[in-house]
Parts: sequence; C-alpha cells; structure tokens
Amino acid sequence: MYLNCMKHLVKEEQYQKTKAIVVKFGEPGGTGELLQKKLLERSEKTYNWVYDYWLEDMYLNQRLALPVNSNPAMVFPKQNFKDRKDSLRFAAHLITGVLEYKERIDTRVLPVDFARGQLAGTPLCMKQYYRLFNTYRLPGHKRDTLIIHKPGSTEQEHIIVACKNQFFVLDLVVNKKKLKEMDILTQLEKIVKMAENSEERQPPFGLLTSDGRTEWAQAREVLIKDSVNRESLAVIEKCLCVLCLDNPSGMEVGDTSRALLMLHGGGHEKMGANRWYDKPMQFIVGEDGVCGTVCEHSPFEGIVLVACTEYLMKFMTGSPSKMGRATSVSELPTPARLLWKTTPHIQDLLKASAERLQRLVRDLDMDVHKFEVYGKEFIKKQKMSPDAYIQVALQLAFYRCNGRLVSTYESASIRRFHEGRVDNIRSATSEALAFVKAMTDEKASLSVSHFSYLVPQILGYSHYTVHHAITGLGIDNHLLGLREIAQELKMERPEIFTDETYVASNQFILSTSQVPTTVEMFCCYGPVVPNGYGCCYNPQSDHLLFSVTSFHGSTETCSAVFIKALDEGLVEMRDLCRKSNKPQSSAALAASKAVVNNQGAGSKLPSTLQKTGK
Ligand code: COA
Repeated sequence: MYLNCMKHLVKEEQYQKTKAIVVKFGEPGGTGELLQKKLLERSEKTYNWVYDYWLEDMYLNQRLALPVNSNPAMVFPKQNFKDRKDSLRFAAHLITGVLEYKERIDTRVLPVDFARGQLAGTPLCMKQYYRLFNTYRLPGHKRDTLIIHKPGSTEQEHIIVACKNQFFVLDLVVNKKKLKEMDILTQLEKIVKMAENSEERQPPFGLLTSDGRTEWAQAREVLIKDSVNRESLAVIEKCLCVLCLDNPSGMEVGDTSRALLMLHGGGHEKMGANRWYDKPMQFIVGEDGVCGTVCEHSPFEGIVLVACTEYLMKFMTGSPSKMGRATSVSELPTPARLLWKTTPHIQDLLKASAERLQRLVRDLDMDVHKFEVYGKEFIKKQKMSPDAYIQVALQLAFYRCNGRLVSTYESASIRRFHEGRVDNIRSATSEALAFVKAMTDEKASLSVSHFSYLVPQILGYSHYTVHHAITGLGIDNHLLGLREIAQELKMERPEIFTDETYVASNQFILSTSQVPTTVEMFCCYGPVVPNGYGCCYNPQSDHLLFSVTSFHGSTETCSAVFIKALDEGLVEMRDLCRKSNKPQSSAALAASKAVVNNQGAGSKLPSTLQKTGK
C-alpha cells in the first residue's frame, strides 16, 4: 500500500529504487519480518502499541513554535459587548461553564461518544476528554513532556488570567467554598484594575512560550534558577486553563482576522504575549468581541475540543448567567499577580522570542472562506461521501495551483481503539491524479466521461477510510511503529526509512482535517511544512467552510489563489454531477459498482481500482 500511495508522487527512477528497498525489507526472514514480530510482541504488552510512538513523533519531538505550527484554534461567533464589563460578564459565564464541564469529567458522567458518519454506532474511547484540563506540555531540550495531573487534584483549583501580558491567579475555591459566577466576575474586575497599574507591571513572559521548543526549554532553564520564577511557573503549570482577556486588537473584525488573533494573537505588539501557549485549554475573550480558544494539541484532537466548546456555547446561550450577590463568597482575597525576576540575559531572551513570533505572524497567509453554492446535503444526494468529495476537490485545487499532487494528510479518527488518536488518509491517490488531470487538461470538454473518473475515486477513497484508516489498518501508524521499534532495538535505521520516498511521504504539503461543528464556530490551524497548506474544513448542510493557511515566505503557495481554485473546482464538480444525473451516467454507475464489488472482500484499494477498466 505504501508503494501504491507513493508511485505517482515521486519520479519513476526513485520509485524503482524504493520498490527494491521495500521488497528487500519484506523478504521472508528479513528486517521487516523481525520488526513486525517485535511490534506484535509490543501490542501484547500495551493497550495501544502506537500511542506513545505517535505522541512523540507527532508532537513531543517537534521543535517548532506552538503557535501556528501546532496549536489549533476554535473561533467562536463574534460577540457584541457593550463595554469591558460586558466582556467580563461573558468571561465569568464561560468559566462557570468550564467548571460545570470539568465537574462532568471528574464525576465521569460524560456520555460515551459513538461514531457518526462512516461505520456509525461504534463506541469511542473517551480518554482524550480526561486530558482537557489536567495536562501541560513542558518544553524539553530534545523532547517535550506531557504532564498529566491526577483528575480532581486539589492542586488544580485555580485558573490563570492573562491581562495586558500580566498573569494572575484566580482561585476557584476560597475557604473550601467554590466561587460562584458573581465572585468570578468580581475577581476578574479586580484583575483588570490591577493589570492597569503600570508601576507593578511585569515583563511579558508569555512570549517565551511562543518560541521554538528548544529555545523555550533553554530559557526556562535560565528562569528556574530563581525561586520567584520557579514558583510562578509551578502555578501556571498546574492551572485548569488560561483565560486571556484581550484588549481590542485594532484589526478590522472579520473571519480571517479573528482566526489570526486566535492562532498567534497578532504578535507581541498586539495580543501575542497575552498567552501561555503550553497550556492545552486557553480561552480568549477580547473586548472587541473576538473570542475563542487556542489549544496545545498533544492531549486531544479537534473533535473532542469541538464537543467541549459546543457544550460551553450551549451553556452560554441556554443557561442564564447567575449573578445574584446573595450566594457569593463574602471575603474574596485579591487575586495574586505572578511575579518574575528578570536579568539582562532574560530580557534578551524575551526580545529574541518577540522577534521570532513577529516573523511567524508576518509569514502567515490565512484565508477563511465560506463556499455557499452548496453543502453536504447536495453531495449526499449524489450518493457520495461528503468527506471524500471535499478531499477530491482539495486535490483538484492543489493540482490546478501547482500542476502536481503531493503527499496529503487527512486525519482519520481511530478512537474506536483504546487510547486511539488518528491515522492518516492519504488522499493524493493515483485515481485522484487521473481525475484532476482529466478535469484540468480536458476542461473544455467537461463531459459525463469525467464522472466515471470521479465516482470510483470517491467510492475508493471512502472505502480506504472505512476499511483501513479508521479501523486501525492505515499505513502511517504501522510504518511509524516499525521505524520506532527498530530504534528501540538500537538497530541501524532500515533503508526503507532513510529512503528519499519515505522522507517525501512524510512531508505533508497538504495537511487537511475535517472538523465539523453543530453550532456557529470554526476550527483553524497552520501549515505543517514551509511550502505547504493547512486546510481545515467544516461541512454544513448548505455550505462548506474552509480555513486555508500557508506561508507568504513560500513562492509555491498562496491561500487566496488556492481558495479560488477550490471554489471553481467545487462548482465544476457540481456541474459534472448534474450532467451525470441524466440517463447516460449508467457507464459511470457500472464502473462504481465494479469498485464496490471488488473492494467488498477487503482487497487493497489501488489495485482494485485499476480493475475498473478506466
Ligand atoms: N451516500 C450518501 N451519504 C453518504 C455516503 C454516500 N455514499 N457516504 C457517506 N454519507 C453520509 C454519512 O452517512 C454521513 O451522514 P450523517 O451526516 O447523517 O452522519 C455523512 O454523509 C458524512 O459522512 P462522510 O462525509 O463520509 O464522512 P464521515 O463523517 O464519516 O467522516 C472522517 C470521515 C474520516 C472525517 C471521520 O471518520 C473522522 O475520522 N473524523 C475525525 C477527524 C479528526 O479527527 N479531525 C480532527 C483532527 S484534529
């Protein structure tokens, strides 16, 4: 399957070299067999043989800065606050919702999720929910650590409030009594006042968390030499979540600018230092109504984040704010401002982090686009999987922008397994290439014959999704497992993993993910390679929402151009479906039936698609 995934994405000469390497790797008694045996032994001893390998490879070993490169953001609907106090009321209500949700987690009353869409009905692993509020990503020189606090720990009874780049401790339990919403509001008001006091202002230490992971680990080592810094870090590292009270950014408020503010805060001159990027749950409430959350990704996936934030949004709109004074805790101590000891060296580190964040901010090219011509209901009416259809449209857009296809990542949930996170659906298939070529090179003669390319492609694609990726038989996790077990055995890295094709197979120039929501909000994230696109999509009944990111620094990418190609391609695909809905589509239907029949026995996707006689 690996060879089939890569054949059309590398040069023929390179492919032949890779093929020889793969054949040798798979020989009876060869390296592959030994590693597979070891991997099977590992699977006997662990709940999930890939989880630790995957977590390190995907997140903890990565050295790039968290904002843009790793942390996804969820953008809430724009709020219309009358004034600062109104925004604080919203924040207090939001935190009350967080506490209610956390209570549900701690008392284990969250209902088990069941799969929807393809293979609906299977129960899903809930572990990720139990890591929403009690985790922290600690920077390390070579590898970060995901710290997991005991659920319900009394050490975790505070949140951190960031305001004007200052950090405050908001204790949620005072004299053994939980704070009510009114109390939280009172404390937030105090914090805002304290943040305004310029005499007590501390340097913007949050900037350090926006830096590369090794740079931040090195800076942290300098910081912790002083006990004041050590204590401040310890308090932050144990908090439930961070609440960032943002000043108005001064930017025109649109979908794209709101998404940018969530992802990187607009840099150190805007809200970029009013953050603590290591903390998995970080809520942002801007005075100008720009609200959302930016998350450290290693403990959970976007789907779990959606479940949590949708609960909060429903809580905010469905349960009235409880501001009655009578029930509040009478004596509320003043929230503590976190103090930092600085030195000229630390000042230099802060300056360097600020500059690097600024570079990232300048480089990010973002476009949030609502495609309103049709949505997933139209696609379902064509008897196609909306997800597969959108993936094909993304391939078409990429081909039209770049004249080639590239390794593509689509996250496929494997929560059907204990501790399951994701595997990869490699949507840049050879069938996709045939389709996009036909749609582009023979555009003038767009005809029903193109449909016979489209249908098997989409069916084959959703077949791969169902029979391989979401059922734990994808190739990416398997190859990762073989590679890592070789390392554990201290073997020389097998040639299959040093080969140029393997390197290319892991350069995800197109990194995509479906994050659907049932309330008005959307998810976004950055590209994972310098010359790539990040594309998060949210299919709704009558429209499709896309958040596309790339870097201005690359001459190969441009988010607006990609969006335009995507828009045009989606319209052409609809026209194709409409044409094919007429009687002459029988040829295509015959082709698609052949695919289904061939694939029913669990045969491998690419070879069976070749049997359709396209
Ligand atoms: N004809 C008609 N309807 C079809 C169809 C067909 N041939 N194929 C699918 N559909 C329907 C489905 O039944 C489903 O219906 P529903 O909306 O009533 O539930 C709907 O179309 C959507 O299905 P589909 O588009 O195929 O995708 P999916 O919802 O099964 O999602 C994945 C596919 C891969 C995105 C999903 O399995 C997954 O893994 N999601 C998680 C991704 C993730 O983790 N993202 C976050 C990463 S941070």
